[in-house]
Amino acid sequence: MRNPIAMAVCRLAALLLIPGCYQSFNGPRPIVTEGALTDVRYEPAQRLVSITCADCHTRNGNNETQPDAWGHAVRLDTYKDWLDSRKVLLERLDPVTAAEQDPPVDVMPQTTFKYQLTDTERDTLLQWIKRGSPNTESGF
Ligand code: HEC
Repeated sequence: MRNPIAMAVCRLAALLLIPGCYQSFNGPRPIVTEGALTDVRYEPAQRLVSITCADCHTRNGNNETQPDAWGHAVRLDTYKDWLDSRKVLLERLDPVTAAEQDPPVDVMPQTTFKYQLTDTERDTLLQWIKRGSPNTESGF
């Protein structure tokens, strides 16, 4: 096949197909568990949000593979993101408040997600928000 147009089409097809084959051969990207609240000094918040939220709410997460995620979900990359999202974070981290919304909203992370928060961990985040989320090592 010496037709330059056909060759260009093949090259383009290869470019488009090979990354797709590579991805399906290697399975989905592993869940991202770091990179949230990068400038937060309160270690428990930084760690817990990275493990349980980063995959869907940070720039390096697998967000784009989650249906409906981009566009209307908050970003949790930085301390400022966290502060700006205070109100919706309270709604989503407290199961009672989530159920009281009209219509009710899903508690985060969704129950189907691999990494869940224990009640104590959830409370650690909620209490930090209720204290105004001081960006200090102690969280107070
Ligand atoms: C598996 C993906 C996934 C994980 C993990 C996840 N979220 Fe979400 N989150 C979503 C999606 C998708 C939406 C939008 C759909 C909806 O409103 O329920 C959302 C919505 C939200 C909203 C509402 C945003 C708004 O503008 O109303 C908040 C707040 C939120 N998430 C916080 C969190 C927090 C905090 C964590 C970790 C404790 C977390 N999420 C973990 C996927 C995820």
